[in-house]
Amino acid sequence: MKIDIIAVIPDLMTSFFENSIIKNARTKGHLTINVIDLRKYGLGNYKQIDDYQYGGQAGMVLMPEPLSICIEDLRASTNYDEIIYLTPDGTTLNQKISNKLSLRENILIICGHYKGIDQRIRDMYVTMEISIGDYVLSGGETAAMVLVDTVGRLIPGVISDETSALSDSFQDDLLAPPVYTRPAEFKGMKVPDILLSGHEKNIREWQEQQAFEKTKRLRPDLFRKWEEESDLPV
Ligand code: 6GU
Repeated sequence: MKIDIIAVIPDLMTSFFENSIIKNARTKGHLTINVIDLRKYGLGNYKQIDDYQYGGQAGMVLMPEPLSICIEDLRASTNYDEIIYLTPDGTTLNQKISNKLSLRENILIICGHYKGIDQRIRDMYVTMEISIGDYVLSGGETAAMVLVDTVGRLIPGVISDETSALSDSFQDDLLAPPVYTRPAEFKGMKVPDILLSGHEKNIREWQEQQAFEKTKRLRPDLFRKWEEESDLPV
């Protein structure tokens, strides 16, 4: 998969992409990430990329020309499956969207800044608008890191234990059960006996039960959704 990202502050993302699972995905050749500095496409001597908004409200808007030239430039060499604009008024990101995006080959992500981008860029180029939650961020870069993380780890081969990504919280609309590692007793608190029993089947059943109870308690909204979509009797 190739992900191109148009950003106003590209440096924000450098360290993130050079570490952890995303670094892994890149060095293994599963993922190519290209960060493009929008400023390079800025107008005039000052490389202007933003301007005051029509209508008189406070706050700057990213101008259409630099973005348009940048997008056209990228599109000349890549056929994008999706051009995503990250914005608080987009569709709220969830695991289903991540799963779907992980099957794409070429994605272009546009990070907004200030009051956002000129509406005409959205109308002309953008195929998908995504928000990462109901709160305000200063720019789309942090959201882009979130999106690349959740999608990147789903690309086949990125996580060595293939079942690992599939057993994450949310992957089946349930929260993950509690996990433990050594020591078997820590400050007087013991790892549940069942996990030390060696009975695969009983352990799976216990974990499933824990996932049900945890989801019911902490995320009743998710649990109802799971009940509706699952054919299993509870
Ligand atoms: Cl994608 N961008 C910004 N600026 N704020 C957000 C967001 C995105 N998602 C939630 N808040």
